[in-house]
Amino acid sequence: MKGDLDTIQIEVTTQCNLKCPGCLRTARAERGLWADRHMSAANFARLLDHLPPVRVGILNGTGEPMLNPEIAEIVGLARASGKFQGLTFNTNALARGVRAYQAVAKAGLSFLSVSVDSLDPQVARVVRTGTKTEKLVERLVQLAKTLPIPITITTVVSRDNRHELAETLAKLDGLGRFTVFLTEQSDVEILDGLPSKGRSLDARERAQLAVWIEKLRPQMPNLELILTQPVNTGGVRCPAPFRHPFVDVEGFLTPCCTLTDAHHYGRVSLLDLDLVAALALPRVKAWCDAYAEREPAACAGCQHRQRD
Ligand SMILES: C[S@@+](CC[C@H](N)C(=O)[O-])C[C@H]1O[C@@H](n2cnc3c(N)ncnc32)[C@H](O)[C@@H]1O
Ligand code: SF4
Repeated sequence: MKGDLDTIQIEVTTQCNLKCPGCLRTARAERGLWADRHMSAANFARLLDHLPPVRVGILNGTGEPMLNPEIAEIVGLARASGKFQGLTFNTNALARGVRAYQAVAKAGLSFLSVSVDSLDPQVARVVRTGTKTEKLVERLVQLAKTLPIPITITTVVSRDNRHELAETLAKLDGLGRFTVFLTEQSDVEILDGLPSKGRSLDARERAQLAVWIEKLRPQMPNLELILTQPVNTGGVRCPAPFRHPFVDVEGFLTPCCTLTDAHHYGRVSLLDLDLVAALALPRVKAWCDAYAEREPAACAGCQHRQRD
């Protein structure tokens, strides 16, 4: 795995200002299984010392990165380390004022990814609970106008917003030029071994989404629409544990942005150990070998899981 890392995702906070029902944070908070924490800039600096060069650093996990009071310092440290070609994070764009976003751009963020699942107030209330869509539109326009870095859009598609998707994309198309990454909703209940709430797309809906997007493309001249998941993977296993590791808010290494619990690798802290050495630990190698043999049960809820 050494030298092959494409991205590393680092969870700089687990706090959030929204309560999206599809999010792991909301689901676990409802069961009393969530703690809001920030990664300090001091711990982030320790962690940085233990990372090899990685193409892109993604500075969010499950939580709103702009709520970390040291986020600009953290971005500045990451940039100054010279370890990343690109630095980014996802944001709901509503957590702080425009000036705070300007500060992270100035500190060295390469591009900002804004999450927009719907610009319809009623649908947004269901899928991005706490979002005021008028404010989100205003914010997108302000950020696009004032930030010196590109803004991309991430749109999570589920049964709750797929029928309204074309309208939201048309509104975005009217706001400016954006690349929109459309990604399926992972089923966070299944990830936690609970019965599914049935909001994620099934195989038929996934195929239909791909057809809709093809049809919509010519009607959205300002948008580059990118489906991040293929309709099927041809039986190929997701490479994330070998290419896209995750570090949780306490600095523990985990396999990927879906399997974000420290127990998978037996609580290996990158505050104390180099990433390359951590990946060579017997218990980490054993997990990866088992993964290569067979997809673990937790992957069943993930949007990136193997599909024949
Ligand atoms: C967990 S959020 C953290 C960053 C920020 N709070 C935000 O919402 O953009 C990161 C991304 O994951 C997406 N996301 C949340 N729950 C998801 C799920 N169950 N499946 C797929 N993506 C999800 C969000 O929409 C967002 O684009
Ligand atoms: S804004 Fe992001 S972190 Fe917050 S609840 Fe929604 S998806 Fe989760």
